[in-house]
Amino acid sequence: MRVLVTGGAGYLGSHVVLALVQAGHEVDVVDDFSRGTPASLARGEAISRQRVRTHAADVADIDAMERIFAGANADAVVHLAGLRSASECVDRPLDAYETNLTTTFTLLRCMTWYGVDRLVLSSSAAVYGDAGADGGTPFAEDAPLVPVSTLGRTMVTNEQLLRDVARAGAALRVAVLRCFNTVGAHPSGRIGEDRNGAPSSLLTRLGEVALGLRGHVEVHADGHSTLDGTAVRDYVHVSDVAAGHVAALAALDEPSAEAVRTWNLGTGEASSVHQVLRTFAEVTGRDVPHRVVPTPPETVTTSVADTRRSAAELSWSATRDLTQICRDHWRWQQEHPRGYPSTVTPETPWRRGVGHRLRLVPPLSAAVSR
Ligand SMILES: NC(=O)c1ccc[n+]([C@@H]2O[C@H](COP(=O)([O-])OP(=O)(O)OC[C@H]3O[C@@H](n4cnc5c(N)ncnc54)[C@H](O)[C@@H]3O)[C@@H](O)[C@H]2O)c1
Repeated sequence: MRVLVTGGAGYLGSHVVLALVQAGHEVDVVDDFSRGTPASLARGEAISRQRVRTHAADVADIDAMERIFAGANADAVVHLAGLRSASECVDRPLDAYETNLTTTFTLLRCMTWYGVDRLVLSSSAAVYGDAGADGGTPFAEDAPLVPVSTLGRTMVTNEQLLRDVARAGAALRVAVLRCFNTVGAHPSGRIGEDRNGAPSSLLTRLGEVALGLRGHVEVHADGHSTLDGTAVRDYVHVSDVAAGHVAALAALDEPSAEAVRTWNLGTGEASSVHQVLRTFAEVTGRDVPHRVVPTPPETVTTSVADTRRSAAELSWSATRDLTQICRDHWRWQQEHPRGYPSTVTPETPWRRGVGHRLRLVPPLSAAVSR
């Protein structure tokens, strides 16, 4: 199959691209390199020994996307371009809504024009909101969607848009993948998370402490009655999540009464921040000092996947546990303490999108406080 992957140079995207290529698909990547880097794609090509066609463009730019669709001859689209950091979405709601929604509008228009009917949307567990301080039950796909974060609300709107478009009769087969806390790195140690200006994830912050790049890690805790007072998450290995995207794409070929189908990509295992910290310290053999600080706004207390539907319908389950996640992440971060070596990013005319805004426009809060 020929697959157009948006955001394919990003953290999850680079793993998805590699998994697709290794599953025998031909891949075109569209990325504006506001966060992703061409190095991640080059590394993936080196691992798979296969080429990926890369288009440097803003997915929200409909003229650019129309030109790309005209040449790509795609059978399916996997959509990962977007603003993914929850805290960045709080600070930059206009960028979050604009990027996460406009890119989907553009894709749906181009898919209609060029007769592409299969779409995999990388959504987020943030659409569910909070199972609560007592842990609640894991989120099944039909659980109520009550997001407590800007990121979650943008993703719910995206999902709703797809359902409305399908209900209006568009020839669409859609897989919505609600990815839980995606972490770790490719087992080769060659591709992994490069913050590139984004707020860092818990594992990256732990790695920075273990490497001596920061003194301690801040642990958010506000006395919730979780296992140990810290937030509880379902941490799932990025290579498992990438495999889930490949499985979902295959599932779109099966007959289904539903145009839009939804699957959780998680492990079903609950881990508190302290448990992650302990596992990371064990794996690395390093001390990871921490300080407890208040929890920021829009933080969910507990978020864990019910994985029964994805196991039954996609024959997909996460295969790596928290120890493996920490091991692979540590391998990557030791070799890349500051991310990928700096690469020459393509020239700038297409960088009118979120990358441009991220660099030049202060967060809304800064503008208001002035
Ligand atoms: N990483 C996670 O924990 C996680 C969890 C759940 C869902 N997801 C979803 O997966 C997707 C990708 O996440 P990620 O972790 O790889 O983030 P990322 O920031 O590493 O990747 C996003 C990619 O999209 C590109 N991009 C952003 N705006 C663009 C635009 N307008 N046009 C073209 N390219 C653009 C960036 O350059 C980057 O390469 C997001 O939609 C996110 O919501 C990620």
